Amino acid sequence: MSVLLARHQRSRATRSLRWLDLMAGCGIRALRWGLEAVGGHAAETELWINDGDPDRLALIQANLQPLQGAIRLTADAADTLLHGAILKRKRFDFIDLDAFGAPGALIQPALQALRFEGLLFLASTDGRSPTGHDRVGAIRSLGAAARAHPASWEMALRQQIGLVARQAWMLGHGLQPLFSFSEGRTFRLALRLRRRIPAGDERNLGLVARCERCGAQRFQPLLKLSGWPACSCADGQGRWSVSGPLWIGPLQEPLLLLQLMADAQELNRQQISPITLRLMQRLQADPGDGPTVWSTDELARRLGLGGPPALGRLVRALQAAGHRASASGVMPGQVRTDAELPELLQICTSLRGEGL
Ligand SMILES: C[S@@+](CC[C@H](N)C(=O)[O-])C[C@H]1O[C@@H](n2cnc3c(N)ncnc32)[C@H](O)[C@@H]1O
Ligand SMILES: [Zn+2]
Repeated sequence: MSVLLARHQRSRATRSLRWLDLMAGCGIRALRWGLEAVGGHAAETELWINDGDPDRLALIQANLQPLQGAIRLTADAADTLLHGAILKRKRFDFIDLDAFGAPGALIQPALQALRFEGLLFLASTDGRSPTGHDRVGAIRSLGAAARAHPASWEMALRQQIGLVARQAWMLGHGLQPLFSFSEGRTFRLALRLRRRIPAGDERNLGLVARCERCGAQRFQPLLKLSGWPACSCADGQGRWSVSGPLWIGPLQEPLLLLQLMADAQELNRQQISPITLRLMQRLQADPGDGPTVWSTDELARRLGLGGPPALGRLVRALQAAGHRASASGVMPGQVRTDAELPELLQICTSLRGEGL
C-alpha cells in the first residue's frame, strides 16, 4: 500500500518530491519506492532512508544498491531527524512511519515535517490500549477512554485517527484519512495533511457507546454532546460503556482506492499481491462512514441461531429496509449499518425464516 500510495503521488506531481522511510528496518520499502514508485523521476525524487539502529546501515546500503538518484541514508533517532528537518525547514511529501509499539510521541513532529497535502503512512503495533484491554494505557497514550468492543480493530483505528486529527488541528491544519486497515496486530493508517481544517470537520471527533447488556450502539460528536438516553433493554437497566474521543468520520477515501487499484493493474502481477488487491476492494466498498458496526457472530449469539447470517444477504436486506449497510472492510464477518439493534435482530430473524 505504501508503494502504491507513493507511486500515485509521484505520477501526479509536477515538481520534485522528498520521501522519508523513517524506520526502514532492512530498507525494503524505500527499495520498492525506488524501483516501483519513482518511475522516470529518479532525479526529482529524493529518498531519505533512516533507521535508528546503526548496525543496520550496512545491510540497508547493500539492499539499496539497485537504486539511482538522490538517496540519503541515516541512522538517527526518529525524533532527532524530524526535529532537525523542521529546524532546517525541510519538508517531506511522504513519511512512512513504521514503528514498533505506539508512535504517539512522533506524530506532532511528523506532521510538522510534512508538506501540505503531504502523506503520512502510520503504523502502530500497540493493540492493547486502543482495543480496551489496557484502559490506563489508553488514557496515557491516546488521551481517550477505550472499552472492549466486538469491532475492536475498527475502534483501534478510530482511536488512532482521532489522536492524529487532534494533533493536526492543534497546528491549525486538517487531516484526511485515506485508508485504514489492520490484521489484528498492526494498525495502519494513510493520512493526508491539509493546509486548512475543512469546515465542520471537528464533528468527526466523538464518543461511541455500547450497551454492556444488549450490545446496542450509539455515537455522538463531541460538538453536540448531550448525554446518553437510557438503553431500551431490561427496563432501562442497560449500561453504556463509552469509548473516545475517537474519529467517527469516514475511514477510507474510496476514490483514491479506486485509482490505486487501477494503478495496481498496470504493475506486474507479482508486485501487488492478490491479498493486497482484495484488501483494497474491501476497503473501497466500505468507506467506513458511521462507526456502528456489529459482528454477525454476536447477532447470531443474541438470537440463539446456530451460525451467523450470511453477510451479503444481511447487507442487502438492511438496504431493502431503507438503511445504510455494508460489509465492514476493516474486520471480517461484521456489518456496518445505521439500523438500530432491535431492527437489525429482526431482519436477521426474518432471514432465518426464509431459510437464508
Ligand atoms: C517495524 S520495523 C520497520 C520495518 C520496515 N518498515 C519494513 O517494512 O520492513 C521498526 C524499525 O524501527 C527502528 N526504530 C525503532 N525505534 C526507532 C526510533 N526511535 N528512531 C528510528 N528508528 C527506530 C528499528 O530499528 C526497526 O528497524
Ligand atoms: Zn441495552
